[in-house]
Amino acid sequence: MERENIVWHLHKVSKADRSQQKKQRSAILWFTGLSASGKSTIAGAVEQALFELGHHTYLLDGDNVRHGLNKDLGFSDEDRVENIRRIGEMAKLFADAGLIVLTAFISPFRSDRRLVRDLVEADEFVEVYMDTPLSVCEQRDPKGLYQKARRGEIKNFTGIDSEYEAPEAAEVTLNTAECDVSECVAQVIEYLRTHNIIH
Ligand code: PPS
Repeated sequence: MERENIVWHLHKVSKADRSQQKKQRSAILWFTGLSASGKSTIAGAVEQALFELGHHTYLLDGDNVRHGLNKDLGFSDEDRVENIRRIGEMAKLFADAGLIVLTAFISPFRSDRRLVRDLVEADEFVEVYMDTPLSVCEQRDPKGLYQKARRGEIKNFTGIDSEYEAPEAAEVTLNTAECDVSECVAQVIEYLRTHNIIH
């Protein structure tokens, strides 16, 4: 074979291009539900599954954010609105950076979740409703907060004396009283695959 007749072909997609190519679209996976409904557990397990599949994620979690950025906020309706507004803006920034953001906040009010949904592209917001019955959450009561709320030691506790407005059309609905962690994770991953958020 004569070398002079062999011309190096520059591919249209270079190694640099490929290394930048993402296996994911950015998205906000917005977990919402009562205290002890399983938000943090399932969001954490979904993040781990995505990480193992090679995706770039970031998890924002209720208690942690309230220790830092939102430590000036309590649990009045007004403060919860501000809590979710800030978290929504933060989630949007992470999504702009190309990440799959997972958030785990009670986010009890429909109008606040709607505001966050409207911050990003329509197909970028995935509402994941933890449809775990109050009776189950109250039975779990891992932090003893329902007991305190029933005794009147905590005011404005979601589900007891503060309202939770369930989503009307969540993209994914999970009932952790009926499905175990791996089944819930599989349901979320399946949604992300069929909607081309991950591939
Ligand atoms: S919200 O409603 O979205 O602003 O709440 P969030 O930031 O997710 O914080 C919920 C966690 O705070 C603890 N906690 C309370 N929850 C509900 N109502 C009252 N009054 C309250 N006081 C403290 C509780 O541990 C929540 O944690 P999770 O993980 O949801 O159980």
